Amino acid sequence: MNSMPWWQSTIIYQIYPRSFQDSDGDGVGDLLGIIERLPYLVELGIETIWLSPIFPSPMADFGYDISDYVNIDPLFGTLDDLDRLIADAHAHGIKVILDLVPNHTSIEHPWFVESRSSRTNPKRDWYIWRDPAPSGGVPNNWLSEFGGSGWQLDWLTGQYYYHTFLAAQPDLNWRNPDVRAAIYDAMRFWFRRGIDGFRVDAVWYVIKDEQFRDNPINPDYKPTSPPNHALIPLYTADRPEMQEVIAEMRRVSDGFSDRLLIGELYLPIERLVAYYGRDLSGVHLPFNFTLLTASWRAEVLADLIREYNEALPPGGWPNWVLGNHDRPRIASRIGEEQVRIAAMLLLTLHGTPTVYYGDEIGLKQAQIRPDRIRDPVELNVPGYALGRDGCRTPMHWDASDHAGFSITESWLPIGKDYRERNVARQRSDANSLFQFYRTLIALRRGSQVLIRGALHSIRAEGDILTFLREHEQERIAVALNLSAEPATVSRMLDESDTCILLSSFSERRAEILAHSIELGPNEGIILGRRK
Ligand code: NOJ
Ligand code: MG
Repeated sequence: MNSMPWWQSTIIYQIYPRSFQDSDGDGVGDLLGIIERLPYLVELGIETIWLSPIFPSPMADFGYDISDYVNIDPLFGTLDDLDRLIADAHAHGIKVILDLVPNHTSIEHPWFVESRSSRTNPKRDWYIWRDPAPSGGVPNNWLSEFGGSGWQLDWLTGQYYYHTFLAAQPDLNWRNPDVRAAIYDAMRFWFRRGIDGFRVDAVWYVIKDEQFRDNPINPDYKPTSPPNHALIPLYTADRPEMQEVIAEMRRVSDGFSDRLLIGELYLPIERLVAYYGRDLSGVHLPFNFTLLTASWRAEVLADLIREYNEALPPGGWPNWVLGNHDRPRIASRIGEEQVRIAAMLLLTLHGTPTVYYGDEIGLKQAQIRPDRIRDPVELNVPGYALGRDGCRTPMHWDASDHAGFSITESWLPIGKDYRERNVARQRSDANSLFQFYRTLIALRRGSQVLIRGALHSIRAEGDILTFLREHEQERIAVALNLSAEPATVSRMLDESDTCILLSSFSERRAEILAHSIELGPNEGIILGRRK
C-alpha cells in the first residue's frame, strides 16, 4: 500500500475556542478547556483539530482581528498552554491546525498604529491608503463584506484606508514585500512550535486591483440580498496575483515536514480549484463549501458532487465541509430528520471531511435574543439572516447548569435544548447521533476504500442519492434517502455476498439484500462485502 500524507486520511474537527470548554470560569472557552476535552475527541475518533483564532485581539470580530500574530490572547491562556495543547494532542494522536489571518490585522496592531500615524511613516505602505476622490468622498465604489463602504477616512492624515471586513480590520497591503515577509515569519514561528498546519482566512481577498478600478454593478442583484452583493467583486477578490501568494505560502510550509495549508474560499467550483495552484503549488486543500449552501435535494447534490469531482486538477485531493462558524448549523438547515444522512454523506465521500464542533450531537442554530447578539455582522447588517452567533453557542456537554461548558453564564447563551441534547446523554444511548458519528468515523478510519477509493456512478433516483467508491478489488455503495417517504432503489453492487455495513437505523446492519433495496424515511445505508 503506498503511503499517503496524513491530511488525506484524516478527519478534521473545527473548534471555535470561545465555545468549546471554559476552564477558568470566565464564561469563555480557553486552551486548557480544549486540553481537558481531548479524550472526548479521541472517543469520537477525531485525528485533527483546527482552532479558530486564539491570538491577542480586541475581539471586534472575535479573534479575526489580530493585534499580535505571535502570541496567545490571555482570554484563551498562554503560549505555555498552547505548547501543552500541542504536546497533549500529539500524544493522543491528534494534529493541531491554527488559523492564519493574512488579509487584515486589528486596528490595534502596532503595525497599523504606526501606519496611520503619518503619511511618511515607514509602515504607511503596509496598509492600503488612498486619497479621497477628486470630488471628495471615498476613493472608489468598493464595499465591505460587513456592510457599507470598504473605505474608512482617517482624520489624522486625511486619507482613507481599505477594509474588506470591519473598519476595525484594516487590510494589509500584500503588494509590499515586507508585509509578506512578516506574515511568513509568523507562520514559521508557529510551525517551529510544532503545529501541523494553517487554515488560511479569507485567502481569495488578499490581493486587490493595483489600479483601484470600480467594481461592476451586479445586474442580478435583488434588494433582499445583502448590500455588498450589489457589486461584482471583480477587482477586490480572486485576483490573478493570488497564484503567486499561495505558492509563496506553500514554500514557507514546505520548509517544514508534513505541514498542511487549507484555504478558506467561497468561490464557484471552477475558481475554487484554481487554489490548488499550478502543478499543485498552492494550498493542499481549498475548502470545499459547496454543501454549506446547496439545497438539500438528491439531484442538486448529485450534480454538485459530480461537478466538483470532475473539476479537481490531477492529483488534487478533495475535501468536504458541512458546517462552520460562519454558516447556520446543518441540523437547522436541513432539518433534524436528515442529520444522519448528512453525516453519512460527509464521511463516505472521497476527500478529507471537516466536522464542526457540536454537529456530532445535532446542535441547532440557536435563536439569540436581541440583547444577547454579539456578532458584528448581525449588528452592522441586520435583517439578512447573516448573524453568526446562533452557530457559535457553547458545546452541550451535560445537563448540569451551563451545560458543563462553564461554571458561570457563558458569553453567548446556551442552546435551549441542552438538558435533552448533550454529550453525556448521547454517550449512554446506543442509538444517539453521537454514537452514529462514532460508528461512521470508525468505519471510515478502518476502510481503505472509504479513504482512498475513487468516487463514481453518482446518481439521483427521485429523492435517493447514490454513489460508489472503489479501490482495488473492493467496492462500497452508498444510498441516501433525502425524503421522509420510504423508497426503493435498484441493486447497486453485483456481488452475491453484499450486505448492509451500516444503516442510519442500526437494526438493519448485516442484512443481506435482494434485487432491490428498500429504504425507510430518511434512511441512509452503506453497502459492501460481508466481512
Ligand atoms: C472569515 C472568517 O471565517 C470569519 O469568521 C471572519 O469574520 C472573516 N473571515 C474575517 O476574518
Ligand atoms: Mg475561560
